[in-house]
Amino acid sequence: MSKIGIVGIRGMVGGTLIERMIKEKDFEESHQYSFFSSSAKNQPGPKINHKQYTFLDAYDLDLMHEMNIILTTQGSDYTKDVYASLRKKGWTGYWIDAASYLRMEKDVIIGLDPINDHVIKEGLARGIKTFVGGNCTVSLLLMGIGNLIKNDWIEWISTMTYQAISGAGAKQIGDLLKQVRAFDIDEQKHPLKLEKEFRQLIKQKTFPLGEIGHPLAFNLLPWIDAKMEDGRTKEEWKGQVELNKIMGLKKILPVDGICVRVPTFRSHAQAVTIKLKKNITIKTIEKEIAGSNSWVKLIPNDVEESKRYLTPLAVSGTLDIAVGRIKQMSMGKDYISLFTVGDQLLWGAAEPLRRMLKIILNIL
Ligand code: HSE
Repeated sequence: MSKIGIVGIRGMVGGTLIERMIKEKDFEESHQYSFFSSSAKNQPGPKINHKQYTFLDAYDLDLMHEMNIILTTQGSDYTKDVYASLRKKGWTGYWIDAASYLRMEKDVIIGLDPINDHVIKEGLARGIKTFVGGNCTVSLLLMGIGNLIKNDWIEWISTMTYQAISGAGAKQIGDLLKQVRAFDIDEQKHPLKLEKEFRQLIKQKTFPLGEIGHPLAFNLLPWIDAKMEDGRTKEEWKGQVELNKIMGLKKILPVDGICVRVPTFRSHAQAVTIKLKKNITIKTIEKEIAGSNSWVKLIPNDVEESKRYLTPLAVSGTLDIAVGRIKQMSMGKDYISLFTVGDQLLWGAAEPLRRMLKIILNIL
């Protein structure tokens, strides 16, 4: 029996994780679970299998120290506050984390087991005890095209993302809705007059920017996260460093692009350009992608199929990784483009953590 501490389930990723764990009957295993919170200690926690849990204090290092495994979705600030102190106290348990804070540390593995099971196994064998989930867009991309990288077919990747507002936090879903509702449409007016009125509306002080900070309704924002020195955003920087680390690549595979926030609620999409190392037929590429894992849904490059199944709304709330629009580009036979979309809360965040927990429980 292992003692498992779960931190931060009141957040969006934590909530999604618990939902998945209950659905998959993960809690029926014979382990002891505790739920920790940074702001709701002693308050009622989740009720699972008829058992009512009470939240424990997520800053009580003595309590945390008793755990064999800690899984946190609390965020980087919490990890920064607690992780090093706990290790310094001699805690040798397994730490599973959704936050980015530890991702690029040397003795930390980014877990995405359908893709890098070999890296995880090798890490466990040499005593690695810290496993972190990858950035959502990186994990989603790899779930779709990881096999092409494993086959060493790719010279470089350029990915242009279309990231949903919930990636910036659950509250921003409501903020986006308020922006949409602020525009009271008079359908009798000429469409171009409506468009002009909207541009005037967003200039008014009363327009509800909310936490988004800018108009996103009927708009998009080509910037996600902090600015790096080389002009990339941190979200764009993560694309290359995390993808290479997840795959355990010896020679750097260049990955770059522009990350864009779009007014969708949930699920991140990306338009991907791939420079292949050699000419490979589209049929072979499709076969490889379709066979990658059981969650990939290959969408034929067809108008109706693409509009129906290759969209954020089609995959939201599911574990599907839709990949479509696969085609050779006019730049040459070694260039292909494709479009992929997946739920950033599921395969982009909660699911790799849930599976990491199961992998570790299996070896304890
Ligand atoms: N960095 C991501 C985003 C969070 O801003 O969309 C994961 O969804």
